Amino acid sequence: MSMGIGMSRFAEFAKRMGEVKPSATFKYDAAAKKPGVINLTIGRPGFDTPEVIKNAAKRALDEGKVHYTPSKGIPELREAIAAKLERENHIGGIDPDNIVVSGGAKQIIYCIIMALADRGDVVAIQNPTWVSYEAQIRLANADVDWLSLKPEEGFIPGDSFMQDLEETRAKLLILNSPGNPTGAVFPERRIKEIMDVCSRRGITVISDEVYEKLIYDGRHYSPARDYENVITVNAFSKAYSMTGWRIGYCACTNREVMEKVDIIHQQSLSCCTSFAQYGALAAFTEEAEEATRRMREELRVRRDYVMKRMGEFELEVICKKPGGAFYIFPYFRNMDDYELADRWLRKGVAVIPGSAFGSQGAGCIRLSYGSADMRALSEAFDRIME
Ligand SMILES: Cc1ncc(COP(=O)(O)O)c(C=O)c1O
Repeated sequence: MSMGIGMSRFAEFAKRMGEVKPSATFKYDAAAKKPGVINLTIGRPGFDTPEVIKNAAKRALDEGKVHYTPSKGIPELREAIAAKLERENHIGGIDPDNIVVSGGAKQIIYCIIMALADRGDVVAIQNPTWVSYEAQIRLANADVDWLSLKPEEGFIPGDSFMQDLEETRAKLLILNSPGNPTGAVFPERRIKEIMDVCSRRGITVISDEVYEKLIYDGRHYSPARDYENVITVNAFSKAYSMTGWRIGYCACTNREVMEKVDIIHQQSLSCCTSFAQYGALAAFTEEAEEATRRMREELRVRRDYVMKRMGEFELEVICKKPGGAFYIFPYFRNMDDYELADRWLRKGVAVIPGSAFGSQGAGCIRLSYGSADMRALSEAFDRIME
């Protein structure tokens, strides 16, 4: 006898589903898409991908490059990435076989966590931080330890962060500079101090450098330049406005670690989209770099404008100028960030409440200028200030 539609039964959900929640920012993401609302929630640059990259992908399709590739990625892309890491990041000695090309930075961070973190292990992350780290750590049944960043220090690791680091039981630390949601660029000296503690304490570092090409003040420093206990993660997503292409990678001098990460990658994705990899190969051309330079200059103008308008608030606000990415993360003293985001939404401006990024984000607002041009930003601040 067949069962009625309402009587059909599904298996119970896995217990891990209790560990991850739908995005706390769903309401703001949804409201941001309504007509008339100025959307300052978007975590991506609103620019087109450079022509040279798009043409390379189209050519690959026309040439029939539509099949599985090696799971670590096509050799010519891994060779180009190894050369880039040497040339730009001064990370020498990366064999192309120690690189895994992935479906974006997000997917490879998940593979790394799955390969290295067990039930009961601790992974330390910045507070505030990009939301997916916590979810991925919890999906691996591992525990999260939070290392505090403070608005008055421009969210650059200070004494309390270093204290937290000394005390953590973590076996892994995820470092993210320039950072989401703060835009903070950590100075080389501070990263080295963090790495010295990690080396002494046997902590492996995942260095998420996806915003490295979007720096306006300061200089990017890759810890793998001087330290061995680092897995460097990067992506084409933000640097070349390729968020929809889903291409990222990780690299590390330790072959065994990369082989294990590749097993998870292989068994979950097989390989990254073939023609997207050929497109990404064209990112290592002068034409693509020039497009990135132009994008960065435009973003710098937007950041400076946003910082100027931040000065108009009558509320007590701490907002140190962030050196990179395309976010500002002002702290409003004595304010509830959800209430503030709701108030701005009623005025037609969507932003994300800072608490969504960790307890140190309470009272903060994440405002993204990546996808809003100068007219939109000007109108947004006129509305907020009204
Ligand atoms: C810090 C950080 N890491 C990783 C990612 C994900 O990058 P991808 O789109 O390459 O997966 C993001 C996206 O917002 C991010 O902000």
